[in-house]
Amino acid sequence: MSVVTNDEGVNVDHGRILYLEDVNVSFDGFKAINNLSLDIAPGELRCIIGPNGAGKTTMMDIITGKTKPDSGTVFFGSTIDLLRYREAEIAQLGIGRKFQKPTVFENLTVFENLELALKTDKGFRASMFFKLNSEQTDRLAEVLHTIHLAEQVTRQAGNLSHGQKQWLEIGMLLVQEPKLLLLDEPVAGMTDEETARTAELFLSLKGKHSLMVVEHDMGFIKTISEIVTVLCDGSVLAQGTLDQVQADERVIEVYLGR
Ligand SMILES: Nc1ncnc2c1ncn2[C@@H]1O[C@H](COP(=O)(O)OP(=O)(O)OP(=O)(O)O)[C@@H](O)[C@H]1O
Ligand SMILES: [Mg+2]
Repeated sequence: MSVVTNDEGVNVDHGRILYLEDVNVSFDGFKAINNLSLDIAPGELRCIIGPNGAGKTTMMDIITGKTKPDSGTVFFGSTIDLLRYREAEIAQLGIGRKFQKPTVFENLTVFENLELALKTDKGFRASMFFKLNSEQTDRLAEVLHTIHLAEQVTRQAGNLSHGQKQWLEIGMLLVQEPKLLLLDEPVAGMTDEETARTAELFLSLKGKHSLMVVEHDMGFIKTISEIVTVLCDGSVLAQGTLDQVQADERVIEVYLGR
C-alpha cells in the first residue's frame, strides 16, 4: 500500500473511508452544520442519532454533493476530495444513498428494477442494447438473495410491501457495488419483523461496505450499533457505544429524555 503524502511530504493518510473536518453550512444565516468533524473506518457500520433538525440529513447532503458547505474538509478515502465533485460524479465514485421514501419503479418487476440500476451509468444508447454478462447475472442473483427477494423476482415492485420496497431500493444500490452506503431512516414505517430483517441485512453488509445509518428507532440501533454518534445543533455532541451515549447527561437532555 502506498503512503499518501501532502506537498511537504508529510504522511496524511488517515486510513478512513470518510473524513469530515470543521464543516460549516448556513441556510439564510442559520447554522445547520456547525464545525462538524466526524470520520468512519473502512467496513464500519456507524449509527447517527440526534433530535429533529440536528443536521443529520444535511450532513448526508454534503457528503453526496447535494449541498456544498461554506467551509471545511470532506474526504472519501485519503485521496478523494469530495468537495471537488458534483452529485452524479460522487455516486460514480462509490457512494450510494438511500432516501427515506422508496423510489423504485412500481410498474417494473423486482428483477427489472435491479437490472435498470445496473444500467444507470451507461448512456441511453448503450442501455437500449444492454445485455447482462454472466458476472452481472451472478451479481444480481447474489443481491436478490442478500435482500431476501429471490422469491419475488418476477413480481411487480408496486405489489411489494413497504419493507420489501425498501430492500429493493437497497438492492438497487448494492448492484452498483458502493464502498460507502448512506441510509437515512431506513426502517421508518416498517413492521417489527421487517425491521429485524433489515438489522440482519445491515449486519451482513458491514465489512464488505462501510455504512452510515441515521435512525430514530433505538431498538434497531441497539441491534446493529458499534459506535454511535450523537449529532445536535450541527455538530457532534457525543460518541461511543450506545450504552455510553445513553448514559451521557447532555444526550439525555437534548434527545433521549424527551
Ligand atoms: N435547503 C435548506 N434550506 C434551509 N434550511 C434547511 C435546508 N436543509 C435543511 N435546513 C435546516 O437545517 C436544519 C437541519 O435539518 P436536517 O434535515 O439536516 O435535520 P435532521 O437531523 O435530518 O432532522 P430529522 O431527524 O427531523 O430528519 C433544520 O433546521 C432544517 O430546517
Ligand atoms: Mg433527516
